Amino acid sequence: MNDQLTVLSHPLVGHIMTELRDQNTSPHQFRALVRKLSMLLCYEATRDLPTVEKQVITPVAPAQGVMVDQSKLVFLPILRAGLGMLDGALELVPDASVGHLGMYRDEETLTPVHYYTKLPPQFEGRGAVILDPMLATGGSAVDAVEKAASYGPAWIKFLCILSAPQGIEKLSKAYPDVKIYTAAVDQCLNDHGYIVPGLGDAGDRIFGTV
Ligand code: URA
Repeated sequence: MNDQLTVLSHPLVGHIMTELRDQNTSPHQFRALVRKLSMLLCYEATRDLPTVEKQVITPVAPAQGVMVDQSKLVFLPILRAGLGMLDGALELVPDASVGHLGMYRDEETLTPVHYYTKLPPQFEGRGAVILDPMLATGGSAVDAVEKAASYGPAWIKFLCILSAPQGIEKLSKAYPDVKIYTAAVDQCLNDHGYIVPGLGDAGDRIFGTV
């Protein structure tokens, strides 16, 4: 494994992943499970955020605490499946900004088509956290990082629920500075680019369009 990669290793994550993979899990349950995993991924990915000291008065005594400047974070869900991860991320960092990356890859030219991009204009000094449930071939992950990088963030992290070794390798070779956080790494991709055993099409399962 590479040191760019953090895989959540916890019995409860295994439990949630198992429920998520199950084809009998309803879209309602699926969304709730994606939300929980996104919170946990976000928790790991924000470990190194800087804090400033703040004193508050408890009912008992003054206490020295710390605060995070949440405006220094920008979540970037890749449409559409990445939207399923947004609630969980915002649950943890409610005052982060949110940009949207709408993109697909032209099947003939294999070039990325960015059909919708709405990012905060000011990225200076802010970190970008890209959200996409499935890191499969790595093609759209690399395209999304390229787009985010063009706005000049201080750093970029990539959060996904499930990943394949091919996608991890592609993204980490293209962008060695981008840290990847995932809840599980599966065996491989099938001929259609689906992660195996995977969980199917994450967007379809989140939005009930199966
Ligand atoms: N995208 C998905 O939604 N599922 C996969 O298995 C691969 C890419």
